[in-house]
Amino acid sequence: MGGFVEVMGLEQLPPGKGTTVTVAGKDVALFNVDGTIYAMEDSCLHQGLSLGTNQLEGKVVTCRRHGWRYDVTTGCTLHVKDFGVAIYPVKIVEGKIMISVSERMQASGWRWER
Ligand code: FES
Repeated sequence: MGGFVEVMGLEQLPPGKGTTVTVAGKDVALFNVDGTIYAMEDSCLHQGLSLGTNQLEGKVVTCRRHGWRYDVTTGCTLHVKDFGVAIYPVKIVEGKIMISVSERMQASGWRWER
């Protein structure tokens, strides 16, 4: 896995919170679930609303426009099996959140793509 980019300090995204960042022209939603950071496409599959700043409960974020819910650890919607947005690899290096948008994993197939 390559192409990791620093996006923010870990202390800037406390547990239970989400945010959005732009990396290499791609909007990415970041979430902190009990101390683990997850990254996924920041566009609701219904009508494209940003997901990163919506309410996070446990590992589920709910789109505020019409209520679609996503498991942020997999990118999958809760109402359609194996359907969801892509997720991106994350690592923490010296207290900094690093993500790579050159590789992604999606519900259909569950494999890293470049
Ligand atoms: S835009 Fe997200 S549920 Fe409609």
